[in-house]
Amino acid sequence: MVERIRAIENEALENITNAKSLSDIDDAQIRYLGKKGLLTELMRNLKILPEEERRNFGKALNETKIKIEGLIASRKAQFSAQLTQNKINSEVLDITLPGKFIKRGKLHPITQVMDEMIGIFIRMGFSIAEGPDIETEYYNFEALNIPKYHPSRDMWSTLWINNELLLRTHTSPVQIRVMEKQKPPLAIIAPGRVYRRDSDVTHSPVFHQLEGLLVDKKITFGDLKGTLSYFLRQVFGKEKKVRFRPSYFPFTEPSAEVDVECVLCNGAGCRLCKNTGWLEILGSGMVDPNVFKFVGYNSEKFSGYAFGMGIERIAMLKFGIDDIRLFFENDLRFLEQF
Ligand code: DAH
Repeated sequence: MVERIRAIENEALENITNAKSLSDIDDAQIRYLGKKGLLTELMRNLKILPEEERRNFGKALNETKIKIEGLIASRKAQFSAQLTQNKINSEVLDITLPGKFIKRGKLHPITQVMDEMIGIFIRMGFSIAEGPDIETEYYNFEALNIPKYHPSRDMWSTLWINNELLLRTHTSPVQIRVMEKQKPPLAIIAPGRVYRRDSDVTHSPVFHQLEGLLVDKKITFGDLKGTLSYFLRQVFGKEKKVRFRPSYFPFTEPSAEVDVECVLCNGAGCRLCKNTGWLEILGSGMVDPNVFKFVGYNSEKFSGYAFGMGIERIAMLKFGIDDIRLFFENDLRFLEQF
């Protein structure tokens, strides 16, 4: 009996030692240790042996089993290490190759400047309001105290859609839309696209404005001056001088235009400021009581100020750009510089 075990053991150890692959080893495992394996069969014989022999035989069987199992485990480990090594050798990964360069997008310079301007007003407590690009004559003109056939309409080269509809020529109609829906006090800005029948180096048929409106009790021209001076110095630099000049807009009374010391010559006089030392930046004024009448506000109780400015103009002055059309051509060589 014990010889039989030794014979199986020798055969098994030789087989496993000479195995050429993992599957050879699996086969050997089945042949010797499987359910119907040679050793398993012998184990079954244990029962029918007399007590004395059973012990010797069982011991021998167990030792053989342990040897075979040990060899199988170590050969399996060898094979899988070999497989891993082969994989490493064949799947070469050269981590010194340069990566693919992915171009990073940027915000358009107009968007950058608009965001900066909005941020300044948001920090002062203004909220953002919006209105449609296609407006009615009522919101764009009538309710802003610009009556039909009145010569003040000529201030805006209007792109009409029909007798009633037009492309808004300024962001001021948003003032009316907000006041129709909200009671004072209120403080809003309305950034957005506007349209005019105009085109040259400083005028584009489509451009952007930022409108502002604040209404409350006891609002004075001093509040307007303080707010706009602070805003302009945030945009152009704290050391810049700001001046308010009397002007005319149908929807404000009194009206003022606001100038900033020239960004190029700092007030000395140059080609950019036409030797005046000043750059015209925005229109503003105290809301005309006629406008309050259109939206049902009591002008005895409330007063307010409004202002409006071109975003392209501010961007051109900040970045030193002399042709507004560059903003709309989308030439990447231009846009990449911001
Ligand atoms: N809407 C004017 C324009 O487009 C700008 C403007 C001037 C807006 C005075 C205002 C204002 O709100 O008070 O030329």
